[in-house]
Amino acid sequence: MPIRRSKVLVKWIYENQHKMQTIRCCSSLLRYKEVEESAQVEPETISIPQTTPIPQIAPEFSFKYSDLQVRLAAPYQLQPKPDASALGFGKYFTDHMMKVHYHKELGGWQKPEIVPFEYLTIHPAAKALHYAIQLFEGMKAYRGIDDKLRLFRPDLNMERMNLAAQRSGLPMFDGEELIGCITRLIQIDQEWVPHSETSTLYVRPTLIGTEPTFGVMEPDSALLFVIMSPVSAYYKTRSDGAVSIYADPSVVRAFPGGVGNRKVGSNYGPTIEVTARAAKLGHQQVLWLFGPDKELTEVGAMNIFVVYINEHGDKQLSTPPLNGLILPGVTRRSILELASQWEDITVKEEVITMDRLIDLNNQGRLLEMFGAGTAVVVTPISNVGYVGENIHIPTMKQSQPLFQRLKDTLLAIQYGHIDHPFSRIIS
Ligand code: COI
Repeated sequence: MPIRRSKVLVKWIYENQHKMQTIRCCSSLLRYKEVEESAQVEPETISIPQTTPIPQIAPEFSFKYSDLQVRLAAPYQLQPKPDASALGFGKYFTDHMMKVHYHKELGGWQKPEIVPFEYLTIHPAAKALHYAIQLFEGMKAYRGIDDKLRLFRPDLNMERMNLAAQRSGLPMFDGEELIGCITRLIQIDQEWVPHSETSTLYVRPTLIGTEPTFGVMEPDSALLFVIMSPVSAYYKTRSDGAVSIYADPSVVRAFPGGVGNRKVGSNYGPTIEVTARAAKLGHQQVLWLFGPDKELTEVGAMNIFVVYINEHGDKQLSTPPLNGLILPGVTRRSILELASQWEDITVKEEVITMDRLIDLNNQGRLLEMFGAGTAVVVTPISNVGYVGENIHIPTMKQSQPLFQRLKDTLLAIQYGHIDHPFSRIIS
């Protein structure tokens, strides 16, 4: 080729390289072919949590644990482990993290990788930053009395993650593949799992839409990452060991048809102002009410439970039903399943209004109130601030409170004092 023609060609390539997707198309075509070939395969079904339909994901659409690549931190990158007394909640992070990119153009999920903990590089137009196209999970890894590490019902977190992904137009995946990657991450950073029964390693899988365009639509690129933090108690309690909560009927956390039942960041950001107002009034958390009847829905970032003597004279444990306003908590579900097996307790999912709560309290039938969630496990409530009044709840006055029995049972399962199918040993 004469020099002049080749110069023109080079110039053309230089100016038009953004249009040349040969390499990208090659790999994406390969993946599309695989996906097409596998489209005939029946999607894998996953167990159904209570009433929520689980999205179905063909395994071929997922990333694979068997593709996981690991790059370990160099000795100089390893962080000193903080004292158990200084942990707080989510202040320190372990030495490694897991990442897996999704690029529609490249055929979807790429290979998962474990890398030294690092900052993310993100385009300022990424949809997660503008439209909150993101979701997260909260799980814990426990060091048992036998020194084995355990996860608590991680399959339920995966189901909930996929439900949130489906709602936000984010890519879904096979939960068992992510559990495999998380297990490996925990094994690598295993010395970060506290040697203590008052602290744990909190695991935070997060999925964000990274496509850098302003259209409010399904992102064609995403990043799933998992970071981990050794944690102790989430809340400071009052001197009686319980928390006081503040109910302001003028604010709502969730509404019918919304995303109160999905673990997405946009459920949490808008709670900050009222939580700060509650704190100024001396309360630790907000009790979220809904509707003209002021139904109790959740408390802070926890599910709410009440214990009272029902019309038959039995001790009843109640929590609001999964009606779309309530996060399907893993701890919530575990509490309901455990207590249903105890003969001395009646368990019910029912709407509880403020009027009903006040009536039960005035009649001396209300025994306990507590919140439950992964971060807090079980937190007793001894006071509700409501329209300028303080309603004292006798939770801490019970001789054998149910909240304590539930908390002790959950912790016994989580720390391996009891062998139980809720616990998954991972090393
Ligand atoms: C959890 O209990 O894991 C939560 O999601 C609480 C978190 C928002 C701190």
